[in-house]
Amino acid sequence: MTITFHLNGEEVSLKDGDPSATLLDFLREEQGLTGTKEGCNEGDCGACTVMVTDGQGSKPLNACILFLPQLNGKSIRTVEGAADADGTLHPVQEAMITHHGSQCGFCTPGFVMSMVTAHKNGDTDHDNQLAGNLCRCTGYAPIIRAAEAVEEMPVPQWIAKEELPAAGDAPNMPTSSDELAALYAAKPDARLVAGATDLGLWVTKGLRDLGEMIFLDGCADLKEISVSDSEVRLGAMVDMNRMREVIAPLHPSYGEMIRRFASQQVRAAATVGGNIANGSPIGDNPPALIALGATLHLRKGDARRAIAIEDFFIEYGKQDRAPGEFVEAVSIPRQEDSLRVYKLSKRFDQDISAVLGAFNVTVADGKVTTARIAFGGMAGTPMRAAHVEAALLGQPWTQETVTAAAAEMGKDFTPMDDMRASAEYRLGSARNMLDRYFADLAGGTHSVLEVSA
Ligand SMILES: Cc1cc2nc3c(=O)[nH]c(=O)nc-3n(C[C@H](O)[C@H](O)[C@H](O)COP(=O)(O)OP(=O)(O)OC[C@H]3O[C@@H](n4cnc5c(N)ncnc54)[C@H](O)[C@@H]3O)c2cc1C
Ligand code: FES
Ligand code: FES
Repeated sequence: MTITFHLNGEEVSLKDGDPSATLLDFLREEQGLTGTKEGCNEGDCGACTVMVTDGQGSKPLNACILFLPQLNGKSIRTVEGAADADGTLHPVQEAMITHHGSQCGFCTPGFVMSMVTAHKNGDTDHDNQLAGNLCRCTGYAPIIRAAEAVEEMPVPQWIAKEELPAAGDAPNMPTSSDELAALYAAKPDARLVAGATDLGLWVTKGLRDLGEMIFLDGCADLKEISVSDSEVRLGAMVDMNRMREVIAPLHPSYGEMIRRFASQQVRAAATVGGNIANGSPIGDNPPALIALGATLHLRKGDARRAIAIEDFFIEYGKQDRAPGEFVEAVSIPRQEDSLRVYKLSKRFDQDISAVLGAFNVTVADGKVTTARIAFGGMAGTPMRAAHVEAALLGQPWTQETVTAAAAEMGKDFTPMDDMRASAEYRLGSARNMLDRYFADLAGGTHSVLEVSA
C-alpha cells in the first residue's frame, strides 16, 4: 500500500503503514508537527483541525479521526503551514493577535485552520464555521471579530494554490464502485471506511482493531449527485456539507437540520452512506429520508437492489444488508415541500439528537391525503409512527385531529431512558413536535432561537 499526499507543500509517500493510524498521531509523533493539538481525540473540540484540499476544494477536517489512507492524493496544511515560508503570517493569524483571540492558546491552532479554510472559501458565516471549535478561556467574541476583520482581505498565494500529488495505489483503496463491488464481494469481512467519523472513534476511544479495511474515498462515482425532475440521487460518499447544498433549496427545514448535524469539520467528512449503514437509532438523516419516501440502493458484486429506506432498519444492530453488500446511493423523490425536521438535543450546535422528528403530511380539500412521520431516538431503529399516521389519514387537518393523533404516539413507541433524555421526556417531546408541525404549516414562526415577550 502506498499513500501519497502533500504536507505543507512537501510530498510525503508512505509505504505499508498501519491503515488505522490517524493523521493527528502521524503529525505529532512522526513529523514533530505539534502545533496541531490533541484535545478530545473524538471529533468534538476542533483542536486538531487541519485544512485538506482535494479535487472538490478545501475543507477543515479533524485530524484525530482521519485515517492516513483517506488522505491519498490530497494536500494537507497544518498550522505550521499557515504562515509563508519566510515567516509572513496569514492575515487570520495577524487578526487573532490584533483582536486578542488567544489566551492559553491550546485551541488557537484549530481555530486558525478553520478560519484559514473559511477565508479561502469566502465563507463568512463565522458562527457556523466555528461551531466545531471549542475555546475554554478567550470567549468567542474576539475570535469572531478576528474572522470578520479579514473577510475582505485577499487569500495569500501560498494558501490559494495547493498542488495535488498523484495518488498512491493499493488493493484496499478502490477508485470506482465497480472496483469496490468486486473487492468487497471477495472480502465480505473487511471493514468499509467512508468518512470515518464513527469508525475513527472505534479506534481512538474503543481501542478496537478494525481488521482489514477498504477505503471508499477514492471511488469518485460514489460522490456523484444527480438532480432530475423526478428525484435527487446522492451517492453514498456524498458528505453532509454537499448534501446540505442540494437539499436546503428543496426542503429548507431539512437543510437547517443538516447545518446542525455535528460541526463543519465532521460534516465535511461524514457521508450519507455511513449515516445510514451504521444503523444508528439516533442518526439524523434516516428519519428525514423515511419521511420523504427515499429509496436505498444496495449493491453486491454486479447485483443491485433498491428498497424503501425504512425497510433497511430491521432491529437494533441489524440491517437488511448481506455480507459483501454495500450502500451505493439514496434517491429522494421530488415533491412539494411539506417536510419539517425537528432536532432536539441538549446543545443547539454540534450535538447528537435526543429525539429527531420528521413530518411530511399532505392535505387536499382540508383532509389529510398522505402522512409520513418518522422519528430517531424513540426506538432501537429509526421508525415510522404508524398509529399516528393512521389517525391522521383521511381526517380533517385540524388541531383536534392532531391532538387525537398525538395521543397515539404511545402505541408506536416505548422509548428508553438514557443520559440524553428520559422516556417520558422523549414521548412528550415527540407529541409536542406534531403540534409544532401543525402550527408551522399554518404559517406561524416557531424558532427556538427567537424569543418574544
Ligand atoms: C463529533 C461528532 C458529532 C456527530 N454528530 C452527529 C449528528 O449530529 N448527527 C448524526 O446523525 N451523526 C453524528 N455523528 C456520527 C457520524 O458523523 C455519522 O454517523 C456519519 O454520517 C457517519 O458517516 P461516515 O462516512 O463518517 O461513516 P464511517 O465512520 O466511515 O462508517 C460508519 C459505518 O458505516 C459503514 N459504511 C460506511 N459507508 C458504507 C457504505 N457505503 N456501505 C455500507 N457500509 C458503509 C462502515 O463500515 C461503518 O460500519 C457525529 C460524530 C462525531 C464524531
Ligand atoms: S482532538 Fe478534539 S476534535 Fe480532534
Ligand atoms: S485560548 Fe485557551 S482554550 Fe481557547
